[in-house]
Amino acid sequence: MAKPLIQVIGSLHLDFVTTTPRCPSAGETLQATRFDIGAGGKGANQAAACGRAAFVTKDEQDVRVEMVGAVGKGDPYYASLLQSALHKSGVDTTNVREVEGTTTGSATIIVDEGAGGENRILFVPGAGFKGMDDAKEVLGRSSKTPNVVVLQGEIPRDTVLSVVEHYNASEQTQVVFNPAPVWPQGIPSKTLKGLGALIVNETECLLLTKSMASEDSEMVAVEKEDDLTEEVLRQIGKTFHEQLSISTVIVTLGSKGVFYSQSSGSAGRIPAQKVEQVVDTTAAGDTFVGYFTAMLARSVAQGMNIKDFDVAAACKEANAASAKCVARAGAMQSIPFGYE
Ligand code: RIB
Repeated sequence: MAKPLIQVIGSLHLDFVTTTPRCPSAGETLQATRFDIGAGGKGANQAAACGRAAFVTKDEQDVRVEMVGAVGKGDPYYASLLQSALHKSGVDTTNVREVEGTTTGSATIIVDEGAGGENRILFVPGAGFKGMDDAKEVLGRSSKTPNVVVLQGEIPRDTVLSVVEHYNASEQTQVVFNPAPVWPQGIPSKTLKGLGALIVNETECLLLTKSMASEDSEMVAVEKEDDLTEEVLRQIGKTFHEQLSISTVIVTLGSKGVFYSQSSGSAGRIPAQKVEQVVDTTAAGDTFVGYFTAMLARSVAQGMNIKDFDVAAACKEANAASAKCVARAGAMQSIPFGYE
């Protein structure tokens, strides 16, 4: 039997990471602890996480992973850092386009040691916008039909919306959508209709539900993260299932764990795994998305209906992987392999 195929459509970034004992105030100069350049981008990190999750042993991968994205033409950092890290993670990069006249996307990341490795990120999309602005071209790059397609919010909004709608209308492909970051214009309900899995963190959940509440009166509008109680999350999940036919809704809650809700009726919170020392939280969410997606791809490729997918088990495994990720520095480099 052919191995399941995951296609990740999204950003590839060079991450410029400064680790500091605290964030400087406006106008202040502060001596930081260290500086690193690493492979990143939510798209590339999620592809690496899917690929690494699939390494059930050191030399056997049970899921195929393809990255669809764009980088600056002839960028030496792509070949030496990003592409090689993706290849080591078992990700096929044939459909990463090299675009003339622009640079590879980049992210400036501040990791705050004093705040438990919490990060602040600014990204410049570069080729991630210029080389990904034509949804038809993006869809036409690969001739294969993926079992699961994964998208985020760091490539042009119009492309993401069209691609999500395209695959939501297909019988063969499930969509895992992680709208990170959420665009200020929100996401139209019609795009989300029929989605396989929606994965958001608390901030994204607030922004998304607020934008939906303004367009649709049945969605609960929540003002602040503290108001996202389990009862409210259950209500949000129910609205997504009933109004938009989304099979699975997941809200990652950082140190409080993960909330999940499935259209079949099961819902609950899975506590976070204990981590002795959190070093850097960058890519923890991407690790979660990748590990969750690998589990989903295995099950839908076996013909299982997504409604019967064991979401709780997938969240537990993805949680364990994220816990390993936050105990290490960096983005892509901190994502664990399945055999670990
Ligand atoms: O999710 C983490 C990623 O977000 C980083 O690798 C950075 O590139 C930003 O896009």
